Amino acid sequence: MSLTILTYPDPRLKRVSQPVQAVTPELRQLAADMAEAMYRADGIGLAAPQIGEAIRLIVVDVTGPEQRSGLMTLVNPRLTPVPGSGSVQTEEGCLSVPDYRSKVKRHAKVRLEAQDLDGNPVDMECEGLLAVCLQHEVDHLEGTLFIDHISHLKRSLFEDKLRKRMGR
Ligand code: NI
Repeated sequence: MSLTILTYPDPRLKRVSQPVQAVTPELRQLAADMAEAMYRADGIGLAAPQIGEAIRLIVVDVTGPEQRSGLMTLVNPRLTPVPGSGSVQTEEGCLSVPDYRSKVKRHAKVRLEAQDLDGNPVDMECEGLLAVCLQHEVDHLEGTLFIDHISHLKRSLFEDKLRKRMGR
């Protein structure tokens, strides 16, 4: 099935997603479809609310759509900053916010706890682009977009640009 990625300001992007209760064949299929949609859109991460499913499921692959060698499908992911690891500023974009990028401050290292699609626990420390990407995707599960982290000035410039593009 081909999934449609919702774009801002779709209100469904603002919902808080619910925990996944069980890994079913339907959930596995959804995760596979999400990975395909992410690669097709040239992304490195996608969260279920971006395709209209308010559940705590994300896919990430920081190796990108060419290489496709680092796919992680994470059920009920939880992140905690690694103490003392500091912060990083990275230019981010989002498949739900087309044609816009901005620097966002994130924790440099995070501990990831989740389940995989076989129900096995995942518990690892992540850094670099993976840590940034995970924080961006887990934000989506709380209804938060990267543009919610930028300055008021940048945000109003973005909203002006968007209004013009949408002809409002
Ligand atoms: Ni995003």
